[in-house]
Amino acid sequence: MTGEPHAGYRETWARSIESRGDFWLGAARGIDWDIPPSVALDERLPGASRWFPDGELNTSYNALDRHVLAGRGDQAALIYDSAMTGTKLSLSYSELLDRVARFAGVLRANGVDKGDRVIIYLPMIPEAIVAMLACARIGAIHSVVFGGFAASELAVRIDDARPGVIVTASGGLEPGRAVEYLPLVQRALKLSAGSVKTVIVQGRDAVPGSAADYADEVQATWLDWADEEATATPAGPVSLRSGDPLYILYTSGTTGSPKGIVRDNGGHAVALAWSMRNIYAVGPGDVYWAASDVGWVVGHSYIVYAPLLVGATTVIYEGKPIGTPDAGAFWRVVEDYKVKVLFTAPTAIRAIRRVDPGLRELAKHDVSSLDSLFLAGERLDPETFHWANDGLHCPVVDHWWQTETGWAICANPRGIEPLPTKPGSATVPVPGFDIEILDSKGRPVKRGKEGNIAIRLPLPPGTLMGVWGSEDRYTSAYLTAFPGYYATGDSGHFDEDGYLYVMGRTDDVINVAGHRLSTGSLEEVLTLHPAVAECAVLGVHDALKGQRAAGFVTLKAGEQIDHDTLAAELIALVREHVGPVAAFRDVTILERLPKTRSGKILRKTIRQIVDGEPYTVPPTIEDPTVLDDLQRAVHGAGESS
Ligand code: COA
Ligand code: AMP
Repeated sequence: MTGEPHAGYRETWARSIESRGDFWLGAARGIDWDIPPSVALDERLPGASRWFPDGELNTSYNALDRHVLAGRGDQAALIYDSAMTGTKLSLSYSELLDRVARFAGVLRANGVDKGDRVIIYLPMIPEAIVAMLACARIGAIHSVVFGGFAASELAVRIDDARPGVIVTASGGLEPGRAVEYLPLVQRALKLSAGSVKTVIVQGRDAVPGSAADYADEVQATWLDWADEEATATPAGPVSLRSGDPLYILYTSGTTGSPKGIVRDNGGHAVALAWSMRNIYAVGPGDVYWAASDVGWVVGHSYIVYAPLLVGATTVIYEGKPIGTPDAGAFWRVVEDYKVKVLFTAPTAIRAIRRVDPGLRELAKHDVSSLDSLFLAGERLDPETFHWANDGLHCPVVDHWWQTETGWAICANPRGIEPLPTKPGSATVPVPGFDIEILDSKGRPVKRGKEGNIAIRLPLPPGTLMGVWGSEDRYTSAYLTAFPGYYATGDSGHFDEDGYLYVMGRTDDVINVAGHRLSTGSLEEVLTLHPAVAECAVLGVHDALKGQRAAGFVTLKAGEQIDHDTLAAELIALVREHVGPVAAFRDVTILERLPKTRSGKILRKTIRQIVDGEPYTVPPTIEDPTVLDDLQRAVHGAGESS
């Protein structure tokens, strides 16, 4: 293929599919194994990928000890920068190893053993990384819960994962308010079935609350992190099978019960280390900053594991892209730590653009260290792409992935060969991912035509092993729609050069500010209100957050509740049950919802009307006048499509 465009990439991709075993066994050499794998993939298990079945390793050893043993102990492993408190801290590989080994000892002293689950409910502080790696060190399975979720969401995760220990802090910091975690944890423990025996609390000066305040609690013993760590016996890394679970990360599915995505140790370590070199072009000593949150998959993969697996320096930033204190916050961090690669969500860039369209704040900082800006989490609209690409001196790279895959499915593989960028496209399939666009019956569509994006099985290493506690759920959610393929739930098309354009979800998952939410679960909450007869929640266009959730409700017969009161109560209900992260603020009360004659809510038509898009009245509609009512309710009298 030499001489053809993108020959380096094409050759690597072809090898990853045609010689899958050799390709990934080669990549596995980037990791230190206690027992090196002789086999790449156990093909006897269709669907659930079991990578490196006879290999044994420890992920925390690979992220820490091996770099110290190689003489890099003094290099910064982690830089903590809190724009909320002004704290700046750097931990070398030796220092981070020491803290992780001690905290692993704390967990062990509190009865945590291999295979036990530990819930980590922490804000963006170094202890989040310490706790995750400490679990990995002793073979415990961590499940990190994002701080913006409500107590009931935490309780659902506790009941599904059944941890013995929760690791938390007095709280997190949002602009203008402290988010106290301990009352939320206490409430979640009361709501849950009672597996938790111990709560370990990292006290923060900036947020009130400590373990001592909960000394009388009967549900669990509350311990102070610092006290425990001071007296701990450090724990060494245990040898784990490649397929032993490293973590569970819950993500929104189509129902109110979130799916616990399970990641293995071996495939994960191999894939992430490979991705750093081949996608991001980052290696030992480079500074890599994923401006996300450890509660999301981006945080798991690219704040914690991948940078440390390759001996880079990771940045953990507590703050926002704007307002902490200004729209130069990201550029200040890039300058301070000489960040080579910055990874964030398009929403963050839109937020900066809204406040600082002329990039005046950028001009105040030396960002010459920046080699590329990677974006993911939601569709990167071409306008935002152009604005960032024209304003920065380095390439802006869109890449597409999901909690389930753990790393990019499509990207510009800059470490293999930087490819030309096309606005609106996440570039090309990453080696290991064999993508096909299928119609609703599972037949491949013609190039250029939009359809369901599916990945031919087996999935490469690093992708999900399954859904926690339910083999059936993995199969039914991902493998049955298109036999032989993993269904991504996204739609899109390839262009003539093999570039993929991801257009949106085909299910009821929406993306609000890069945060994944299920409209189904929001509907479940709205129907809890006694006045609500029926409801539909949709993702509508939002200029800043990409999408926002909008609720449409009808009242039970005879209900007299004032509409403003109901809207306020519904907004409060979602905040209480799902959490502030849902950012749910739009409620429209209607006489009737637009439906087909068979009773199906016409969601697409509702969305088109709200977004002001042209629409055709569906022939199956029960009563077309309902659309006029909706039009008036959303856009006011006098407007029509
Ligand atoms: N703990 C508690 N509350 C949180 C939280 C956390 N970790 N993260 C967000 N929230 C709260 C916010 O304070 C806000 O509360 P409010 O309703 O009282 O104002 C609410 O959840 C909604 O947050 P968000 O959607 O993030 O909106 P915002 O107005 O606070 O910030 C941006 C807007 C664009 C600055 C912000 O969304 C952002 O930085 N996005 C980047 C996207 C990102 O990091 N995605 C992760 C995947 S890569
Ligand atoms: P999450 O699991 O939270 O990472 O969300 C995954 C979903 O976000 C995907 O299924 C897509 O719908 C969307 N997504 C993530 N990255 C992109 C991208 N680069 N372009 C378009 N959509 C994206």
